[in-house]
Parts: sequence; structure tokens; C-alpha cells
Amino acid sequence: MQTWLVTGGAGFIGANFVLAARRLGLARVINLDLLTYAGHPENLDGVKADPDHVFVHGDIGDEALVTKLFAVHKPVAVLNFAAESHVDRSILGPQAFIQTNIVGTHTLLAAARSYWQGLEAAAKSAFRFLHVSTDEVYGSLGPQDPAFTEEHQYQPNSPYAASKAAADHLVRAYHHTYGMPVLTTNCSNNYGPYQHPEKLIPLIIQNARAGKSLPIYGDGQQVRDWLYVEDHCTAIRTVLEKGRPGETYNIGGNAEKPNLEIVQTICQLLDARFPDKAPHAKLIQHVTDRPGHDRRYAINASKIKRELGWQPAMTFAQGMASTVQWYLDNDAWSRAVSNPQHQEWLKKNYQQQGRNL
Ligand code: NAD
Ligand code: DAU
Repeated sequence: MQTWLVTGGAGFIGANFVLAARRLGLARVINLDLLTYAGHPENLDGVKADPDHVFVHGDIGDEALVTKLFAVHKPVAVLNFAAESHVDRSILGPQAFIQTNIVGTHTLLAAARSYWQGLEAAAKSAFRFLHVSTDEVYGSLGPQDPAFTEEHQYQPNSPYAASKAAADHLVRAYHHTYGMPVLTTNCSNNYGPYQHPEKLIPLIIQNARAGKSLPIYGDGQQVRDWLYVEDHCTAIRTVLEKGRPGETYNIGGNAEKPNLEIVQTICQLLDARFPDKAPHAKLIQHVTDRPGHDRRYAINASKIKRELGWQPAMTFAQGMASTVQWYLDNDAWSRAVSNPQHQEWLKKNYQQQGRNL
């Protein structure tokens, strides 16, 4: 069986990717994760007893460690999910984003290159370094602007987006300069199981269940393009299998929604389930906006559909219903990740930012 080196596989998307890869028996997975506040060993309970899942607690920026992982495990592919991923945290403290998203990604790239250069011809051409990136590198769209294509100018607006953009450029440069077989994916907002409750959808589900306020930044008319996480994972596997080295692929859900509509959808799903608490929408509270808040993202995913035959399988309505159900069914998980560190974050981001929650 081939081996994949997956980084950040204890986080939201990485864990969904690892669980599916092992469920489908696609590869032996070496899962390198630093277990920051966003990494949860609980996410990997499903592969605890799996001998073909090897968890390594460590940093993508640890050159000695990553060099050793290549030498020992000889992966045919690297899937780089590891990142600091939350925009609000990047606003309050950008340094960790520079360290992991730029320096860490570069350390991993450089180690991959040394390993790749020593391979014999067939293994060398089969090797892939797939870098998981975001649509936020493209900046913000006006209401009538066409959706982001792969040719859209990079215009990152938050420290998070800028750090991801820098990493994308390094990945691109390793192809252009050294001929390394890299692939980059730029995806829109994901939702689904195992998402850390700092992010909009799990935060709103959790607060609504607890009868707490539902914080909407500004007017709530900011638009995101939502994709069910499992669809993102199938897209990444498709790009890994069929993508052309050196190319970038945009991935999106064809589901542009304003934030207020997302929150109202969650409230309606909860109203149907808990009519005694209805209407949950009474908990909505508009709070101070995110500084530099991007107004609209939208992905044109026609390249990946045309060239690789991928498109999302889940509709927004199905995806939201199943996501709300997952959080209701997995209360123990929600309690475990809502640890004191998370409570500190909620205080810092909502009470101390003039959001008066
Ligand atoms: P997440 O914050 O849930 O998980 C990140 C994981 O990376 C955690 O397990 C964390 O412990 C690990 N990590 C952090 N720093 C590390 C380091 N230095 N070394 C090793 N591991 C480290 O993030 P996510 O939402 O799952 O996002 C995964 C990737 O997908 C990120 O690169 C993100 O930029 C990208 N992305 C996310 C979305 C989204 O909507 N969540 C959309 C598009 C792209
Ligand atoms: O677009 C892809 C990006 O999507 C990924 O690259 C990021 O890693 C991921 O975190 C996500 O970024 P967003 O900033 O869009 O996600 P978040 O869940 O933080 O916020 C979604 C929208 O909801 C955004 O417009 C901000 C708003 N929001 C968020 C929170 C946490 C609120 O109105 N209230 C909140 O409390």
C-alpha cells in the first residue's frame, strides 16, 4: 500500500480527510499534527486501532523531524492541511500564522524537495506535494463581480489570508524553479463534522443550544460560498489523483449565502427539533464587525469540473441538516473541545473586543 504524509490531520478538514482515506483503504497515513488548540485527538477516535494510521505529534516547521519522516516512511504524496486557520485569531495575533503557514510550509517543502530529488525516475515523477489553500487569498468581491477563477489576482486582506498567499507563492516557486510536482487547491468555506467551535457554524449551533446570544459581525450580509467538508475531501483526492503538477484548482460549493441566512437556517433546523425553545432566532445579536472584514467570496469551480470531473455531491440544505444533526448527536465531542482554552478565546474575541455579548 502507498503511504501519504498528511499534516494537520487532527484538525477539522484534515481529520475528515484522514478518516475517509482510511475508511476507503486508499493509503497508509502518517499524520503529523502539532495538536495546537485546534487539533483534537478525539477527531481521530475512528482510526485509533488502525495499524495503517500512524500519528506523529510534531511541527511541520521542525526540519529534523520532517526530514526523518520522509526517510523512514517514504511517502508518495504530502497533503499539507496544517495551518493556523482562524481569521479572528490572525487579527489579534498574526505571529503564529507567519510561523506555521509560511515558515512551517516552507520547511516542509524544502524537506520534501530533498527527499524527492533523491528518488529514482518513476518514483520522482509519481511524487506529489498537495498544498491545501483558501479562496481568501483572492481578496473580496463586490456584489456583481464574477466569482474567483484560478487567474484572479492575489489580494489577501487579513494576516491569515496573507500568510496563506505567501505559502501558495512558495509552493508555486518550487515547481517553477525546481520542477517539483506540486498541486495547490484554493477552497471556499467548509462546514461539517469536527469543526472547531470558534468558526461560525459550530459556534452558532453551540450557542443556540445553550440559549446564548448568536453573534453576527456587522450587518451579517457578508457572503461566503459554503462547501460540505466531505466534498472538499473528495475534491482533494481527485486533484491528487488526476491534477496536473504545477496547477492550481479552485474548489467551491456553488452555495453563496450571507451570514445572516446561515444563522437563520441553523435556527430553523433547531426550531423544528426543539419547538419549546423556538424561535432560536430571537438570540441573534449584531456585534462589532471584524476589522477588514471581506464582504464576499465566490468560487468559480469550472476548471476542476471540466478537467478532473469533480463537483460537489451534497446540496446546501442536505449538508446543513446533517451538520446540525451531527453536532446534536456528538455533544460529548462539543463539550471536550469547549475546554478552558476555548472559553478564554470566547472571552478574548467577544467580551474584550467591544462586542458586548
Ligand atoms: P483547523 O484549524 O481545524 O486545523 C488545523 C490543524 O493543523 C490542527 O489540527 C492543528 O493542530 C494543526 N497544526 C497547526 N499548526 C501546526 C504545525 N505547525 N505543525 C503541525 N500541525 C499544525 O483548520 P481547518 O479548518 O481544518 O483547515 C485545514 C486547512 O485547510 C488549512 O490549511 C486552511 O487554511 C485550509 N482551508 C480551510 C477552510 C475552512 O473553511 N476551514 C477552507 C479552505 C481552506
Ligand atoms: O473562505 C475559506 C476560509 O473560511 C478558510 O480559509 C478559513 O480557514 C475558515 O476559517 C473560513 O474563514 P471565515 O472567516 O470565512 O470563517 P468564519 O467561520 O470565521 O466566519 C464565517 C463568516 O461569519 C465571516 O464572514 C465572519 C462571520 N462571523 C464569524 C464568527 C466567528 C460572524 O458573523 N460571527 C462570528 O462569531
